[in-house]
Amino acid sequence: MKRLLPTLRADQTSESLISVINTIQIAAKEISFRLHQGALAGVLGSTLDENIQGETQKKLDVVANQLLKTLLLESPNVHAVASEEEDSIVESPNSGHYLVAFDPLDGSSNIDINGGVGTIFSILRKPEGEETGESMFLQPGKAQVAAGYVLYGPSTMLVMTTGKAVRIYTLDQTVGEFLLTKEKAEIPKDTKEFAINMSNRRHWADPIRAYISDLLEGEEGPRGKNFNMRWNAAMVSDVHRVISRGGLFTYPWDSRKPEKPFKLRLLYEASPMAMLVEKAGGKATDGYSRLMEIVPEHIHQRVSVVMGSANEVDVCMDYHKQHP
Ligand code: AHG
Ligand code: MN
Ligand code: MN
Ligand code: MN
Repeated sequence: MKRLLPTLRADQTSESLISVINTIQIAAKEISFRLHQGALAGVLGSTLDENIQGETQKKLDVVANQLLKTLLLESPNVHAVASEEEDSIVESPNSGHYLVAFDPLDGSSNIDINGGVGTIFSILRKPEGEETGESMFLQPGKAQVAAGYVLYGPSTMLVMTTGKAVRIYTLDQTVGEFLLTKEKAEIPKDTKEFAINMSNRRHWADPIRAYISDLLEGEEGPRGKNFNMRWNAAMVSDVHRVISRGGLFTYPWDSRKPEKPFKLRLLYEASPMAMLVEKAGGKATDGYSRLMEIVPEHIHQRVSVVMGSANEVDVCMDYHKQHP
């Protein structure tokens, strides 16, 4: 079976980018090990701190963030990092060509129930002539040179793209290497499965309310087919299911918090997942337009997300057009 780095070399990926990806996979293997130790390593539970998002940090949010941050800032190829768990960007003493934005641990409410969690990463090129400041990161998703996630489930998987195919690697715990287990992930165009946190229904805007309501009508309703629903409460697990067998994943606008109406973050959740979904043949939008066109205004910006099987995303976008 092929190992990660040779598969990247076979695509003529530059050695500097390979080295950044290598650093991420080293950190991911360490995070995977700590997660699998669970209660034995004393890493479950919460800290007393809050992050910039106003969320109580889990111990593993902090551990995963420290590992990724420390290793990436030591890399000669990384210029700066941005993380869900850091208030501002962190610049490296090295002047590498790449910027890395990451969600060190996605789905952290699943940690204490031994549910699936992940790490999401997005790699950008440092803009020419800009040496410092958050503005370096304010690039649309389409500018990403690589994106991926690691899913720490029953097995640990790395799913990534450098702009070509979306490849899936599985961590072989016996040799400690990510081995290629799927050459090219492809999302079926049609689906009968959707993912949304239904408990927020009363807070949804009209388009999503109308769309989900029609899905729930099943065969007798306007869609003429029965839909199944799944929700893991970790974007990595939910999008991995979509990448594996199709589906529509959404975390729509939500009127609970008027000052922060969206939940998912553009830079290190929506954009990298959008690149993967598109490269696997799916679509990724905010309900109205392509996610990867949005230029962030700040690093922790949030966005409405509708992504997955292409034809189903189109249907959902039609509801957005009809209920502006
Ligand atoms: P994080 O754990 O990195 O803060 O992200 C959590 C996100 C995302 O993974 C998931 O889709 C969503 O929050 C779950 O939200 P609910 O708690 O509303 O289900
Ligand atoms: Mn969080
Ligand atoms: Mn997350
Ligand atoms: Mn997180």
